[in-house]
Amino acid sequence: MKRNPVIPFALIAVLGILAMIVLSVVGLNEQDKIANGDQEGDTVNTDPEAIAQSCIGCHGGDLEGASAPSLQDLGSKYSVEEVEDIINNGIEGTAMQGGIVPSEEAAILAEWLVTGETGDAAEAEESTEEEAH
Ligand code: HEC
Repeated sequence: MKRNPVIPFALIAVLGILAMIVLSVVGLNEQDKIANGDQEGDTVNTDPEAIAQSCIGCHGGDLEGASAPSLQDLGSKYSVEEVEDIINNGIEGTAMQGGIVPSEEAAILAEWLVTGETGDAAEAEESTEEEAH
């Protein structure tokens, strides 16, 4: 039985063509997003109180605690990074699920819950860097 020596090359060619199609479709999507001024896909909510609406179902209307513990005094317990991690990854084995809000919003929310400051977390980081110089 003789194998056709052209088949492996044909397979590679087909894979290459598929890759080109996939990449151009992805590229077109990106182009659309950039044209709409919306590179992240979803618009990021920068108001922590609005973001916290995703949490009140379990943590209470004023985050005072309900079926889940109070989030009003997190600063005494966790750092901003720890709270951000809880929001992004959840607490394993509990009803606290990660990824309820996008990670950009998690950063803003964590900053607000721990420090009480409503400033954009990313901006706050930048300004502390500037002060250090
Ligand atoms: C489906 C219900 C539910 C939702 C929605 C929810 N949580 Fe939780 N969360 C819980 C539960 C239950 C716990 C307690 C887990 C445990 O037993 O340690 C918890 C714990 C936490 C803790 C740790 C509190 C502590 O004192 O140790 C933080 C921080 C937290 N949640 C933040 C959030 C934030 C921020 C949101 C909104 C983005 C949110 N949670 C949405 C159920 C929820």
